Amino acid sequence: MTEIRRGSASRFTIEQRWQDYSEEEHAIWRLLFERQQRLLVGRACPEFLDGLGALGIAAGGIPDFRQLSDVLDAATGWRIVAVPGLVPDDVFFAFLARRRFPSTCFVRRRDQLDYLQEPDVFHDICGHVPLLINPVFADYMQAYGQGGLKALSLGHLEQLARLYWYTVEFGLIDTREGLRIYGSGILSSAGESVYCLDDPRPNRIRFDLRRVMQTRYRIDDFQQTYFVIDDFQQLFDATLPDFAPIYREIAALPDIEPHALIDSDRAFRGNSPAAGRQKNGPQSNYGPSLGRKRLEDVRQDHNQ
Ligand code: PHE
Ligand code: FE
Repeated sequence: MTEIRRGSASRFTIEQRWQDYSEEEHAIWRLLFERQQRLLVGRACPEFLDGLGALGIAAGGIPDFRQLSDVLDAATGWRIVAVPGLVPDDVFFAFLARRRFPSTCFVRRRDQLDYLQEPDVFHDICGHVPLLINPVFADYMQAYGQGGLKALSLGHLEQLARLYWYTVEFGLIDTREGLRIYGSGILSSAGESVYCLDDPRPNRIRFDLRRVMQTRYRIDDFQQTYFVIDDFQQLFDATLPDFAPIYREIAALPDIEPHALIDSDRAFRGNSPAAGRQKNGPQSNYGPSLGRKRLEDVRQDHNQ
C-alpha cells in the first residue's frame, strides 16, 4: 500500500526549473510580496513573520525550492516538492505525512493579483511554507497528512477537510496584542487579510474540534466564521486523539451553516484598534473561490 502511494506521489513531482522564470514573473511575485508585507505586519502572527525572515522568503523574487528546502529541512525536516497543480487527496496527504509540502510553480498573471481560482506559487510558498519552520506547526501538518490517509479509508474526508479549512487555510490565533492571522488562505489574500480582523460581520469564535468538524464552509466568498486558537500547541493537542469515534459522533449530528452561531460558541470581538481602519468599499464584487486547492484570494478593490 505504502509503496503504491509513494509511487503515485512521485508521479506528480516535477522540476521547478527556477532558471526559467522570466523577469515579469519575478516582478509579479515582488508586487504581491510587497503588498502583503505592508498589510501583514500587525496582522499576521509573529511565528509567520519570523518564518518569512528565517527562510529568506522576501520581495526579491520567486524562491528556488531547492535552496528553500535546504534551510527548512535543517530546521524541521520539511521539504518543498514541485507539483504541476492540484494533486489527488491521497497524494496530497501522503506528501504531508512524509513532511513534503507540494507547491505549485507557476505565478498568477498581472491581471490576477487579487483573485485566482487555484493555488499558485505565491499562495503555496508565501502563504504556507513560513509556518513549516515552526516545530509545533510542522508536526501538526505531518499529523494532518497521516490523519488524511486515515480519514479517506474511513470515509470521513469531509469532516477532516473542514479542519484543514478552518485552521491551515483560514485560522486566527489569539495573542497578547490581539487576534492575528495564521491561515494561509488569508495570508496570501490582500482583501481577506483586512476583512478577517477588521470587518464586524464575520464570527470569530474559539476553536473547538467538534464544532469545526460540524461546520460547512464557503468556497465562493470571504469566510463568515473564523475559529481562533490560543497557540499551535492547543491545535496539536486537540487533534491528537483518535478521530475514528469522533467522526462517528459528528456524522450523527447535523451540519452547522457557515454563518451560524450556536449556544456553546465563545465569541471574540474584532480587533478594536482596527475599527478605524475599516473600509466601506463595495462588498458585492467578491469573486468566487474554490476549496482547499484554490488560491483563496477574493477580489476586492484594495489596490492603494
Ligand atoms: N488524530 C487524528 C486521527 O486519529 C489525526 C490528525 C491529527 C488529524 C492532526 C488532523 C490533524 O485521525
Ligand atoms: Fe492552500
